[in-house]
This record gives sequence, C-alpha cells and structure tokens, in this order.
Amino acid sequence: MSKITAAITAVGGYVPDYVLTNKILETMVDTNDEWITTRTGIKERRILKEEGKGTSYLAINAAQDLLQKSNTDPKDIDLVIMATATPDMPVAATGVYVATEIGAVNAFSFDLVAACSSFLYGMSTAARYIESGKYKKVLLIGADKMSSIIDYEDRTTCIIFGDGGGAVLFEPDEEGLGVQDEILRSDGIGRQSLKIDAGGSILPPSAKTVANKQHFVFQDGKTVFKFAVSNMADVSEKIMKRNGLTGNDVNWLVPHQANRRIIDATAKRMDLPEEKVMVNIQKYGNTTSATLPLCLVDYESKLKKGDNLVFASFGGGFTWGAVYVKWAYNSN
Ligand code: UT7
Repeated sequence: MSKITAAITAVGGYVPDYVLTNKILETMVDTNDEWITTRTGIKERRILKEEGKGTSYLAINAAQDLLQKSNTDPKDIDLVIMATATPDMPVAATGVYVATEIGAVNAFSFDLVAACSSFLYGMSTAARYIESGKYKKVLLIGADKMSSIIDYEDRTTCIIFGDGGGAVLFEPDEEGLGVQDEILRSDGIGRQSLKIDAGGSILPPSAKTVANKQHFVFQDGKTVFKFAVSNMADVSEKIMKRNGLTGNDVNWLVPHQANRRIIDATAKRMDLPEEKVMVNIQKYGNTTSATLPLCLVDYESKLKKGDNLVFASFGGGFTWGAVYVKWAYNSN
C-alpha cells in the first residue's frame, strides 16, 4: 500500500466588511499613510465591529465558505482544529463551538495557540492525523479578532493588525501530494517582546490591569522584526535545501503577512521573484492565524496540481517555521 500524505483539498475564507484605512488611522493616532505603507506595506485592514461577535464568527463564516465551495458534508469531518490567538473566551474552546455551529457533529475539536504560527503548527498537526490513516477529513481553521486585543491609541500596534478567518481541508492522498516536510521552531526568548501582560494566570484581570492597559498587545517591534527576518528566511532556505529545491522549483512562497519587508527578505533568500510570492498584507494587515489561509483563498485560482509551495511564519513566543506542500488540485 502506498504511503498516505495529507493533501489540501479545499480552502475558504472570510473577512468582515468594515475597512479601516490608513487615512482613518491618521485621524485616530499620530501616524500617516506614507509611514505605514513604506514600513509595513499595509494600506487597510478589516475590523469586526458588531458587538457580541468574536473569533468564532470569523471562523464559522470561513468554514462555511469552504464547505459550500467544496460541496463537503460537515457530518463527514472527523476533526476541527481551531488555530487562534484570540479565543472567544479563556475557557470553553472556540473550536468546539465552531464545529457544532457548522454542523460537524461527528468531529472532535480543540484550539491550537501559538501566536502568528498557530496556523502553520496546525498544518503539521492536521497532517499527522491524516497520515495516521485514522482520520479522513481534518478541517484546519485559522481566525483572529485582533481588534479585541489592540489599543487603538497605540500607533505602534494599531496600524498592523486586522481581523479575518481562513480554513483548509486536509484529506488523505496516495499520489504523494500534500505536506512533504516541515521545520518547526520556538524560543522562549521572545516572551518579553510580543505579549499581553494581564488576563492570564500570572496577572489575572483586575481594575488595575484594565486601568494600566495591560490587556492589550505590547510589541517591541524592532526586536521582533530582527528575529523574524533572519529566522523566517533561515527555515525557508533550509527546507528548500534539504528537499533539493532551488528558486526555480518553488512555485509559491506563502508567507505570514506581518510586514512586507520581512516577506521580501525571505523571498530574496529563497531566490524567488516577486511573482511567486503571495502577498495580501495591503488589504488585510496582519490577521495572525488567518494570514496563510487567506493567501490561499486569494491565490487559489492560480495554483496548479503539483505546484511546490513553501509556507513560512514567524510570531510571538517566539514561534516560527516552514512547511513544504505539493498542491493537490487545479481550480476551475
Ligand atoms: O506577526 C507577529 C510578528 N510581528 C512582526 O513580525 C512585526 C515585526 N516588526 C515590524 O514589523 C516593525 O518593527 C514595525 C512595523 C512594528 C515598526 O517598524 P520599524 O521600522 O521597526 O519602526 P521603529 O519601531 O523603529 O520606529 C521608527 C520610528 C520611531 O520614531 P523615532 O524613535 O525614530 O523618533 C517610532 O516612534 O517611527 C515611529 N513610529 C511611527 N511613526 C508613525 C512608530 N510607529 C509609528 C506610526 N506612525 N504608526
């Protein structure tokens, strides 16, 4: 019997309607379109404005888009992995609610939390379940309502992040398509550089933590940038080398969308021209767990069966890695 690999067989996505442009941000904090564009590549991002709606809303919509496009019966799904840094609530996993809401009544579900690398780590996890032979349909959803943890008076973070969700379906393949290799890394040295201080077990919520704005994202941008540029490029180059791939062999880089300059540095190290790099940061900003699947949604029509894709991410923790995938279908 041939070896089972984990192929991506469908994608879906969702972003909220409200568009927060650089121009609007100019009226909120001391910033300007030119600074944001040249430093990050971002022009606008989407924000989930409606009260009472959380990350699950983004995830459910993304999953439903996938189910509808691929004509998948949710009852056939075995597992729903919910990659997120902004769960609906600290206890009661978001994925469990999402699975029930989309009708995946025969699935079990859990959340996977690894900051901006949540989705990439989720790809690895989904692949292992499929490769085990026991699970036939694994739905990996990446969604984040970043606006729920951003201080819109802090110009160093509020210009970067946006809300969104994306989903991919993994299924067994016997032609050798799908996930081929991965390099996953983490280093606790990053804990102080990108974090939310309060609301966890070290510093539970209190009137003081709210007054001190300790429930918002803090980022030492320069340090994160330095680590992101070298580490994301390192793992991407390494995964190419050990699979005998040159820039000519790689059809697409699917990079985490944190900063256009980090994406460009990674592509350069991989010897890839601009046309082979998926970029939608200008439209959505950094949607954390949703960046990779939203890239797939935007570029799906250009992907061909057998294409070599290298996914790469870097995020808080620090967490980072690269996953090499052979694309499994032609879209019509
Ligand atoms: O996905 C999770 C991982 N996160 C990342 O990968 C993010 C990595 N970091 C970055 O992308 C960049 O560091 C930022 C986009 C966050 C910042 O860009 P930078 O080129 O590193 O700028 P900087 O922090 O060095 O700031 C340069 C200057 C500072 O002013 P002074 O000290 O030179 O006078 C900042 O105060 O720009 C100022 N500044 C701003 N000016 C206008 C910071 N934010 C803004 C702003 N508008 N929004």
